Amino acid sequence: MSLKIKNLHVSREGKEIVKGVTIEIMPGEVHALMGQNGSGKSSLANALMGHPKYVITDGSIGIDDEDLTALKPNERAAKGLFLSMQHPPEVSGVTVAHFLRVITTTARREPLSVADFRKLLKEKMADLKIDASFMHRGLNEGFSGGEKKRMEILQLALLEPKYAVLDETDSGLDVDALKIVSDGVRKLREKGMGVLLITHHARILQDLEPDKVHVLKDGLIVADGSADLAAEIEKDGFTKW
Ligand SMILES: Nc1ncnc2c1ncn2[C@@H]1O[C@H](COP(=O)(O)OP(=O)(O)O)[C@@H](O)[C@H]1O
Ligand SMILES: [Mg+2]
Repeated sequence: MSLKIKNLHVSREGKEIVKGVTIEIMPGEVHALMGQNGSGKSSLANALMGHPKYVITDGSIGIDDEDLTALKPNERAAKGLFLSMQHPPEVSGVTVAHFLRVITTTARREPLSVADFRKLLKEKMADLKIDASFMHRGLNEGFSGGEKKRMEILQLALLEPKYAVLDETDSGLDVDALKIVSDGVRKLREKGMGVLLITHHARILQDLEPDKVHVLKDGLIVADGSADLAAEIEKDGFTKW
């Protein structure tokens, strides 16, 4: 039982960006992937999501000994990998509740009545301390950084994937938005979800003690460690690699 990223090589437009990354995440573990801008963190995340521009040229992705490498994004999702959208489109006339019902019923492959879904959604929102009025908002319309994070965590809570890859590229996230992510991830980790949290905000890792920290440089892991490594990076940066 684990998410296994094995010797993964990823190219974009013929150029190798990720050069052999191996990470294994057990259920309920949170791994932080850190590294300077341009080190290949988002490219790795995009390849895990099955983004067509990020080509896996070697290595594999597996969940519980099943190989996902050749699968399409929706097929990977069906196997329990959460695919987050970094730049979700604004869709006028579609509410948060409607969108969440569509993705939830699609993932469950069984009908869920509007009433039952509303009940489930209200429970999850209360659990995550998200105001009930949020469900009536237009999808992604004028969302703040914090609201985008609420949306992401709410999707995770409804879909209950085995593993989630969260790329916290949004450097504009304020302290409140970071707290939404750390609180949400903590709750889901308790339920057994494994997480690869890509971040350059060492501060999120103070709230959310990661089981392991990996440092990426030029497409290679140059250091693996415990939460102490994140504290060290917070203090000294990435200069020693
Ligand atoms: N859209 C792009 N077009 C061309 N090259 C890119 C693009 N995005 C990323 N790269 C290349 O991949 C490298 C890794 O980028 P990225 O995965 O975004 O790093 P990180 O998320 O760690 O900041 C960059 O240094 C750049 O050379
Ligand atoms: Mg990035």
